[in-house]
Amino acid sequence: MILVTGGTGFIGSHTVCELIENGKEAVIVDNLSNSSDDVLDKIKKITGVKPAFVKGDLCDKALCDRLFKEYVIDSVIHFAGLKAVGESVQKPLEYYENNVYGTLNLLDAMRKNSVKKIVFSSSATVYGMKNTPPLKEDMPLSATNPYGRTKLFIEEILNDLYASDNGWSIVKLRYFNPVGAHPTGIIGEAPSGYPNNIMPVILRTAAGKIEQMCVFGADYDTPDGSCIRDYIHITDLAKGHIKALEYIEKTGAGCVAVNLGTGRGYSVFELIGAFERVTGKKVNYRVGERRKGDVAVCYADPTKAKELFGWTAEKGIDSMCEDAWRFQQNYGK
Ligand SMILES: NC(=O)c1ccc[n+]([C@@H]2O[C@H](COP(=O)([O-])OP(=O)(O)OC[C@H]3O[C@@H](n4cnc5c(N)ncnc54)[C@H](O)[C@@H]3O)[C@@H](O)[C@H]2O)c1
Repeated sequence: MILVTGGTGFIGSHTVCELIENGKEAVIVDNLSNSSDDVLDKIKKITGVKPAFVKGDLCDKALCDRLFKEYVIDSVIHFAGLKAVGESVQKPLEYYENNVYGTLNLLDAMRKNSVKKIVFSSSATVYGMKNTPPLKEDMPLSATNPYGRTKLFIEEILNDLYASDNGWSIVKLRYFNPVGAHPTGIIGEAPSGYPNNIMPVILRTAAGKIEQMCVFGADYDTPDGSCIRDYIHITDLAKGHIKALEYIEKTGAGCVAVNLGTGRGYSVFELIGAFERVTGKKVNYRVGERRKGDVAVCYADPTKAKELFGWTAEKGIDSMCEDAWRFQQNYGK
């Protein structure tokens, strides 16, 4: 059985669907701080299977220990975490506690129960602001905000853990910009409050729930002046986790970092243009100031994922927009 922390969230729920569709059994632990347990029935609607669920917080050490007693867990996919960059600047202690302390409890419970296989959700944010894309796994790492630092610290903790015991199998997946939704339109990204990521902002603007969105800066050194990002379809990203687990099973112990991106960048204006073309909906936007901490261009070198996992992203920008819009029309906030 695979323990999926944060499994009712955006990336977790899509990954649980992929796990089930690949014949695996999953148990989710989530404190529902940024998701809802409605997702469990939706996963059943998609896959025919309702995954086991424990409502709980990784900061509860006793709960972490209990999970490994109550379920026969073979490996862990660790999504649970707070992820809003701006909020992390306002509430650094909450971010360090939730993300780092929660992870320490999880790893300690794993160690005590001799479960040593983990896939961890890291982020392209660990490449910082100084590297020139395409970003490669061996480039120097840095962080510009507390959220990014939690990812960096956890990567370091995992490195130290592996150095202390080479029996661990650790894959640190560095995601680029996950967007889109399940092609059924049943699950997708539905953040509470004002969204932090661009696609939910575009969706709510197109749906008339946000009157006018802001493009943060059109004076970057890029062909159209707006920032360029490597958007990746959520089901491609979810499949990357299945491949990472297969890699762990095949190769045994190790500790590797792997990018999950497409290797192709799109500017904010290109993304809005693609969305309007695919959906026929207008997105009302204005150009505002640059946002602090945004790099002009960020995209992955996805070669390592192909070499190690045999994984490449398959879906393009049109399906990302089409699927996200379908979900918005069904369930969007
Ligand atoms: N979405 C992105 O753009 C992106 C990019 C890079 C990395 N990541 C990382 O991927 C992971 C998943 O992201 P997501 O977009 O699915 O976010 P999400 O907020 O939708 O999912 C995270 C889930 O974790 C749960 N959670 C948070 N803290 C918890 C705790 N202490 N105990 C138990 N459950 C807890 C939340 O309730 C939520 O359901 C996160 O670690 C995030 O930092 C996300």
